[in-house]
Amino acid sequence: MKPAALVTGCSSGIGLRTAVTLARDGYRVHAGVRSPERADTLRDAAAGLDLSVVRLDVTDPDSVAAAVAATAPDVVVSNAGIGMFGAVETIPDADLRLVFDTNFFGALSVVRAALPGMRSRGRGVVVTVGSVDACLPGRPMTWAYAASKHAMGVASEGLALEAEPFGIRVRQLDPGFFATSILDNRRQRENGTGDLAYAPLRDAMDSAVAAAVADAGDPQVVADAVLDAIADEHTFPVRRLVGGDAEQAVAAERGLDEASAAQRWKQAVGLDQGSADE
Ligand SMILES: NC(=O)c1ccc[n+]([C@@H]2O[C@H](COP(=O)([O-])OP(=O)(O)OC[C@H]3O[C@@H](n4cnc5c(N)ncnc54)[C@H](OP(=O)(O)O)[C@@H]3O)[C@@H](O)[C@H]2O)c1
Repeated sequence: MKPAALVTGCSSGIGLRTAVTLARDGYRVHAGVRSPERADTLRDAAAGLDLSVVRLDVTDPDSVAAAVAATAPDVVVSNAGIGMFGAVETIPDADLRLVFDTNFFGALSVVRAALPGMRSRGRGVVVTVGSVDACLPGRPMTWAYAASKHAMGVASEGLALEAEPFGIRVRQLDPGFFATSILDNRRQRENGTGDLAYAPLRDAMDSAVAAAVADAGDPQVVADAVLDAIADEHTFPVRRLVGGDAEQAVAAERGLDEASAAQRWKQAVGLDQGSADE
């Protein structure tokens, strides 16, 4: 029988492409979405493939337990995630909790629920979708998102060593910018209030992110990397950046002292017109 793959966050973007890519490659795909009644784009993209839509909200423990029990996955791709902006002083507590509930506790809950079955079968693959932000120093406004992704990255690294003796491989991909709805979805969630003292910084960061997204690559690149991570049993590392921009960003930080790194960042978001070491 073909291996079963459970992918979270498949209504759009990287999750949708990943689910379809795995189905094309011969997996029995269970595509997790929060609202199956709003999954027409996914259903259209998956026409004729072995792909079923499963209701799955990663912040709802009952939904996670039911989806994993119904699908008994050999492969879990923990992809669902949200963006979040906010200053440390003014970010609403609910927003801070939501980004961790989704990107860390939620992302991890699906993996935790799938592990007993994988362990009893003596095989399994877990792929988590992190972010290049999990490989870079903290930045204003995006630090909460980055912190949730850093947390997931170290959890994945820990799990990789814990699970290896049971025949379970764990990989985390850390993508740079890819053209998905993540920015629009974040903006829609924000209520536009608060943060007045930090508004100029917030606007500068939002513009920098929007410019990067406008120039971003096809999310199919990430879906293909997920497929590689699952298929490559021997050479794929536990953590891998995805995208030239991610590789460049991490390489550019390497060896920079604190002041040069801060200066470089200010220039990148248009907050400092002075000269900086490139
Ligand atoms: N695009 C990028 O540049 C980029 C870069 C680095 C990392 N990533 C990561 O890639 C992953 C996918 O993001 P994307 O870019 O494809 O953005 P996206 O198009 O906004 O997709 C996010 C997906 O996650 C789902 N989701 C959000 N909260 C959920 C929850 N509580 N339970 C289940 N599903 C939930 C969304 O479902 P709904 O439709 O129900 O909201 C949607 O299907 C995220 O983890 C993101 O952090 C993206």
